[in-house]
Amino acid sequence: MTVATAVAHPNIALVKYWGKRDADLNLPATGSLSMTLDVFPTRTTVALDPALDGDAFTLDGRAATGIPLDRVTRFLDVVRALAGVETRARVTSAGTVPEAAGLASSAAGFAALAGAASAAYGLDLDERALTRLARRGSGSASRSVIPGFAVWHAGDTDEESFAESVDAPALAMVIAIVDAGEKPVSSRAAMRRTVLTSPFYPAWVTSTDESLRSALAACRDGDVDRLGRIAETNALRMHALIQSCDPPIRYLAPTSLAVLDRVEALRARGVGAYATADAGPNVVVVCRPADAAEVRDALADLAEIVVAHPGPGLRIEPGAVA
Ligand code: DP6
Repeated sequence: MTVATAVAHPNIALVKYWGKRDADLNLPATGSLSMTLDVFPTRTTVALDPALDGDAFTLDGRAATGIPLDRVTRFLDVVRALAGVETRARVTSAGTVPEAAGLASSAAGFAALAGAASAAYGLDLDERALTRLARRGSGSASRSVIPGFAVWHAGDTDEESFAESVDAPALAMVIAIVDAGEKPVSSRAAMRRTVLTSPFYPAWVTSTDESLRSALAACRDGDVDRLGRIAETNALRMHALIQSCDPPIRYLAPTSLAVLDRVEALRARGVGAYATADAGPNVVVVCRPADAAEVRDALADLAEIVVAHPGPGLRIEPGAVA
């Protein structure tokens, strides 16, 4: 039996991925930019087992069925096709991030699965190939392969759509966990609905391309405030876009808006703090590391707060392949 284990962390996008050009290959409509965090790691083990008829997936101690198991099996089918091996596997994954709460659990999960599965099935992939493989499981997972800041190039083909490291100024992310419960509509389903029903979708694609170019320029210039402003604008545009679906979807909750108000108040007193939010009610405040404690204190009565910094990329544990 061949076994491998890998660890990956979530990432939070400063310029968001929202919308696909190809759902099968998971090619995004636009590129995106993110920071991989140093909190909430997911650890995943893949063990090939010739006795199995189907893959088995245990998530946080419970046997998974339905959509989560299907997504793992479809992902392992990609790995098996690359490896030319048909053996099924037992996948065991344990995360520390609240599942499906818009804290990018699928990014850490599929990055770790890409690392463990590629090693268990005997694929020898370089970093770029691992980002492309992780992308097949969940688009945002491509960026969690990379330590610190990552740009995921949209690309026109499977080969061109990969993530790589990018230099950026030192940042902290202050995470306000407004609600750790499961979100009403998955980001995958909401993305599909957006592409099919939002009249604003074409404008989102054009403006996100522009935001990514400006954000990369701000990274090169080391300009935290410009990067933060671009991130906040891009996130609020994404939420406006999502709310413009038919039927509409709203992820931000009253407490999320209260956090956004506090971020404005922080800026009014001269703190460079900027908000972003993924497909859920939690708000992440981007700021200079030296301001993180002040931002945390300003939000502490509204939500549970976790302060994150740039974290490591995908780690495939040495010696885990038996
Ligand atoms: C709002 O990567 O979870 O977090 O590719 O369908 O698995 P799939 O979607 P997923 O979407 C992430 C959306 C986002 C923005 C981002 O992380 O860029």
